[in-house]
Amino acid sequence: MSKITAAITAVGGYVPEYVLTNQILETMVDTNDEWIVTRTGIKERRILKEEGKGTSYLAIQAAKDLLEKSNTDPKDIDMVILATATPDMPVAVTGVYVASQIGAVNAFSYDLVAACSSFLFGMSTAAKYIESGRYKKVLLIGADKMSSIIDYEDRATCIIFGDGGGAVLFEPNEEGMGVQDEFLRTDGVGRPHLKIDAGGSILPASAETVANKQHYVFQDGRTVFKFAVSNMADVSEKIMSRNGLTGEDVHWLVPHQANKRIIDATASRMNLPEEKVMMNIHKYGNTTSATLPLCLNDYEKQLKKGDNIVFAAFGGGFTWGSLYLKWAYNSN
Ligand code: UT7
Repeated sequence: MSKITAAITAVGGYVPEYVLTNQILETMVDTNDEWIVTRTGIKERRILKEEGKGTSYLAIQAAKDLLEKSNTDPKDIDMVILATATPDMPVAVTGVYVASQIGAVNAFSYDLVAACSSFLFGMSTAAKYIESGRYKKVLLIGADKMSSIIDYEDRATCIIFGDGGGAVLFEPNEEGMGVQDEFLRTDGVGRPHLKIDAGGSILPASAETVANKQHYVFQDGRTVFKFAVSNMADVSEKIMSRNGLTGEDVHWLVPHQANKRIIDATASRMNLPEEKVMMNIHKYGNTTSATLPLCLNDYEKQLKKGDNIVFAAFGGGFTWGSLYLKWAYNSN
């Protein structure tokens, strides 16, 4: 019997309707369109405005899109993993609520937290459940309502992030398609450089922490940028070399959408032309856990069975890594 590999068999995505453009941001903080575009590549991002709606809403919409497009019965799903850095609330697992809301009544679920690498690490986790032979349909959703943790008076962070959700379905494959290899890394040296100080167990919420704006994302952008550029390129190069892949063999790079300059540097180290790099940062910004599946959703129609795809991400912690996957189907 051939080895079971874990293939992606369907994708879905969702972004909220409200568009926060660079021009609108110019009226909110001391910034300008030219600075944002040249430093990050971002022109606009989507924001979930409606009160009472959290990350679960984005995740549910993305999952429903996948279920509808692929004609999947939610009752057949064995497991739902929600990759997110912005759960609806502490303790009550957001993924569990999402699974119930989409009708995945026979699934178990949990959230997976690895900052901007949550979805990449989630791909690794989902694949292991499939490869074990015990589970047949694992739904991996990446969703973040970044606007819930961003200070819209801080120009260093508010220009970067957006809200969104994306989903992929993993199923067993016996033709060798799906996840081939992964190289995942972490380093606690990153903790001071990208974090939220309050609201966790070290500094629980209080009137003082709210007054001090300590519930918002703090990022030392320059330091994170330096680590992201070298580490994302290193792991992508590594996964190529240990699988005997050249730039010619790789059909697509699916990079975390944090900054176009980081993506360009990674693609250049991999010897990949622009046409092979999935990019949607200009319209969504950095949606944290949703960047990779939203890329797949946008580019799905261009993907062909057997395509060699390298995923790469970098995020808070620090967390980073790359994953090599063979695409399993032709669209239409
Ligand atoms: O997804 C998780 C991982 N996160 C990342 O990968 C993000 C990594 N970091 C970055 O993408 C970049 O560091 C940023 C986009 C956040 C910032 O770009 P940068 O080129 O590193 O800018 P900088 O922080 O070094 O700031 C350069 C200048 C500063 O002015 P001075 O000190 O040179 O006078 C800033 O005050 O640009 C200024 N600046 C701005 N100007 C206009 C910072 N933010 C803005 C702004 N608009 N929004």
